Amino acid sequence: MRGVDGLHSERARRRDRQSDGTTVMIGNACGPCLREAIRKFESGHARLLTICEELEVMADGLPALPNNGSHLRLARRMGMVLREVHAREEAEILPVLVAALGANIGRDSVGTLVEEHRADEAAAEELAEVIIEWAAGERNHDAATLGYMLRGLFDNIRRHSDRERDQLIAPAQRRLAPD
Ligand SMILES: [Fe+2]
Repeated sequence: MRGVDGLHSERARRRDRQSDGTTVMIGNACGPCLREAIRKFESGHARLLTICEELEVMADGLPALPNNGSHLRLARRMGMVLREVHAREEAEILPVLVAALGANIGRDSVGTLVEEHRADEAAAEELAEVIIEWAAGERNHDAATLGYMLRGLFDNIRRHSDRERDQLIAPAQRRLAPD
């Protein structure tokens, strides 16, 4: 018996095929490729936004640090999460979006997004060092500086993700579902 999943995939197959059986193309990207790129884009953003929430909780709690070690785990993991999400965007996602949206997205704006990835990764590395120093009792920075660094990073990541959603994901979704 065909379950709900089977019906969904059958509907997706029909949506991705033209009447002559060829795959639907959105610009120079295949429809299913674009749909998959958007799914990966959104799941990467969800990982980044979870990091932002954790950074914000930490900033709100200053000058105290959590006593369960969560700040150290965050410091050790955030750079890796940023690098993984950004590498996937650059290698697997942005090229598909550019192929699909063509002239609607300038290569310059992709270049800007990539530059922002590097800047956020560098800021995360610097912040991680400061958090680890704080945790070790080496307070070479005051709470205001640490708070400024935390807020600077999560504000930048949120703004960057918002722009990617507005300028890339939303237009791509409109192209996939024309009225
Ligand atoms: Fe990005």
